[in-house]
Amino acid sequence: MSARLTIVVGVTGGIAAYKAVGVIRALVLDGHSVHVVATEAALRFVGRPTLEAISRNPVATDLYEGVAEVRHVALGQSADLIVIAPATANTIAKLAAGIADDLLGNTVLASTAPLVIAPAMHTEMWRNAATVANIATLRGRGIHIVGPASGQLTGADSGPGRMEEPEVIARVALRAAGVSPRPAATAVPEPVADVVVLSERRRANEAARLPRGGVDLAGRRVVISAGGTREPLDPVRFLGNRSSGRQGVALASAALARGADVVLVAAHLEVDPPEGVELVEVQTALELQSAVTEAARSADIVVMTAAVADYRPAETRDAKIKKSEAGETLTLELVANPDVLAGLAHDKRDGQVLVGFAAETEPDPSALIELGRGKLAAKGCDFLVLNQVGWSQGFATESNEVVVLRKGGDIVMEASGTKLSVADRILDVIA
Ligand code: CTP
Repeated sequence: MSARLTIVVGVTGGIAAYKAVGVIRALVLDGHSVHVVATEAALRFVGRPTLEAISRNPVATDLYEGVAEVRHVALGQSADLIVIAPATANTIAKLAAGIADDLLGNTVLASTAPLVIAPAMHTEMWRNAATVANIATLRGRGIHIVGPASGQLTGADSGPGRMEEPEVIARVALRAAGVSPRPAATAVPEPVADVVVLSERRRANEAARLPRGGVDLAGRRVVISAGGTREPLDPVRFLGNRSSGRQGVALASAALARGADVVLVAAHLEVDPPEGVELVEVQTALELQSAVTEAARSADIVVMTAAVADYRPAETRDAKIKKSEAGETLTLELVANPDVLAGLAHDKRDGQVLVGFAAETEPDPSALIELGRGKLAAKGCDFLVLNQVGWSQGFATESNEVVVLRKGGDIVMEASGTKLSVADRILDVIA
């Protein structure tokens, strides 16, 4: 059970306000005390009784209620975490300017807790220079921005602007407060809120419109590197790593199922590659670099799941290194391998999507995300799939848990489950 937090959920006035119920529900089910602060506009979209029933607490809206107990600062001061979902363009602008003309604005200003916002608006509003500048300002202050997702909007249009799914927002928010959410499987087995069911149903409907496996990558050329490179020391020994290649192979299977032409650049896979891929087997980082770079010239999507050795022995002996010559200690001189991903980003052709992976041992969730953001910027790729690894985590397992960041550092998706289901979610983001 994770630590019990006091969480303020701000709900602002957009059509996605109905999905805020799912966010509140997820946080309550994770064992936290949730206090909703709704704007007047939000209550036009979702009823106060619903928010009170789901949060199990009274809903606050009015700046001038509870003046004696100084409610406008008390809520902010008591919060361990503030989540605003949905955050409209107007709310984002007010947050950027520090405007406190309602209870939510006051609560935010009176708080030093992590603030997570889930923007929701039409694509044009999201792309408007004012919103872009406001989001940059908020990000610069360390505010976490989740989404928006791309997809069908309220009208007939579609594009980026749809509020991220409630479960994702809840998970990202808890991580921002340094709490690992309980796995969904161990959550209280109550039916989830109707809105979550609705959004699942919509996803199912969207999937049903596609033939089996989806067609969204038909005719696309996808290059995937997988496994772990080995750098030979002598004819019998190498420097290697624990990557099994399972996540890369799962991505290859998922891309094939969507009709893509898949090149799998494989370094020592522990699992069989799927039938139907063009398989290029490599041993070392240098071999992997030349195979991937060559294949990438005609690729629409390049995904680097391979664990590439950062260093190789300065010298590879032709004969076995003997104990008699090394003595009690043996010092190896290593030289840096090229950064394949950074090179691909440098030479990327127009329209190509480049995806990196990062396996990190950092245990703190927010520090992990910051590491990922740094790596994404350093590598110059379009997306970075981040996961935590350890002695017993991440390698040679059938499941995975990832956070996907896009260029600029926004979290665009979180997924956990089998490596195949995670692969499918990753392809959804890329496609
Ligand atoms: N990568 C690469 N070439 C390298 C090292 C890594 O292309 N020489 C790619 C990996 O395939 C992965 C991404 O870069 O997609 C991140 O790899 P990771 O090992 O996490 O990062 P490093 O760059 O090696 O940085 P560090 O080990 O210092 O964390």
